[in-house]
Amino acid sequence: MNINSNYDNLAQSYLFSTIAKKVNEYTTNNPDKKVIRLGIGDVTLPLCKAVTDALHKAVDEMGVQSTFRGYGPEQGYDFLREAVRGYYKSHNVDLELDEIFISDGAKSDLGNILDLFAKDNTVLVPDPVYPVYVDTNTMAGREVKFIDANGENEFLPLPDKSIKADIIYICSPNNPTGAVYNKEQLKAWVDYALENKAVILFDSAYECFISDANLPRSIYEIEGAKDCAIEFCSLSKTAGFTGTRCGYTVVPNNLGKLNKMWVRRQTTKFNGVPYIVQRGAEAVFTEEGQKEIAVNIAYYKENAKLISDTLKECNIWHVGGKHSPYIWLRCPNDMKSWEFFDYLLENAQVVGTPGAGFGKNGEGYFRLTSFGSKENTMEAMERFKKLFK
Ligand code: MLT
Repeated sequence: MNINSNYDNLAQSYLFSTIAKKVNEYTTNNPDKKVIRLGIGDVTLPLCKAVTDALHKAVDEMGVQSTFRGYGPEQGYDFLREAVRGYYKSHNVDLELDEIFISDGAKSDLGNILDLFAKDNTVLVPDPVYPVYVDTNTMAGREVKFIDANGENEFLPLPDKSIKADIIYICSPNNPTGAVYNKEQLKAWVDYALENKAVILFDSAYECFISDANLPRSIYEIEGAKDCAIEFCSLSKTAGFTGTRCGYTVVPNNLGKLNKMWVRRQTTKFNGVPYIVQRGAEAVFTEEGQKEIAVNIAYYKENAKLISDTLKECNIWHVGGKHSPYIWLRCPNDMKSWEFFDYLLENAQVVGTPGAGFGKNGEGYFRLTSFGSKENTMEAMERFKKLFK
């Protein structure tokens, strides 16, 4: 056999695995130190009551002959697809049921969707970027071009017409920078994709953090988007499902064969999300569920504000945190990203994510997440003040 040698072109380990390894080494060597993790965007608040009630009920159903379920539909149960459709409707986006696919999360679908595209497509990603977009294309041996996101364009690059792209990745609110496209800016991307006959892979995993009604939460709020965009969303950050696993992907019928191809791909390679989890996910979209998750999102946004206020006090340049759980800061004293990572771990026992891990334009920057507990975030910020104020 011959191995897939494209794997030789990847960094040795996935960004967050490298960080976890470094932190484990540190904690093993310094067992008396309290390390505060504001690195990977993993939630800390528990699932809300509406969700756990629904999970319990579904578990009971699975233990009774008359309500037991085996294989479910690969695309997801209609009850959850209807709930997702209703959620989109509440943002003035109309979807057909067969355009909605339930998955175990956005990360898997963002990688799996590449099964639908030929190898010779040119991929365009902003830099810095969520590493999964680049790594999954590298694994497939596909050419990746980068478009610069930087301080000058407020980390919101617009299309460069001199570049011909076939597959375009956009994440808004952005991971890692927290920047959010407005409708005009997203329209520029939709127009560019339509002109190039390209597809936009739109990652909206952080849409629930948008609190300005004028900012788009879905790319389908933009005219023409159903003719060029696939949208990926997840309940990980919205409702604390990072460990429970459930997301949804929209493949519009307007995208020619892609919708039917995705059905074919999923029915062949995927057996669906567990019934129990889908019932829990359905509860997120009930009135009670929406109320409860709003409280959790507000909690994380408070943390983001605390981080931002502290950085201001310390005169540390930063963006994000307003419509996003991520704060993107320039490393103090011109430190490089990994240098700052080590410095912070060593001197404040605070873990963040080095910007350089998200691409060359991330060098000299650093990402903090607001998904920690309030107490830990406060303590981490006190430690920041001691070092930088
Ligand atoms: C992150 O920290 O960037 C995210 O947690 C990664 C993910 O959602 O897979």
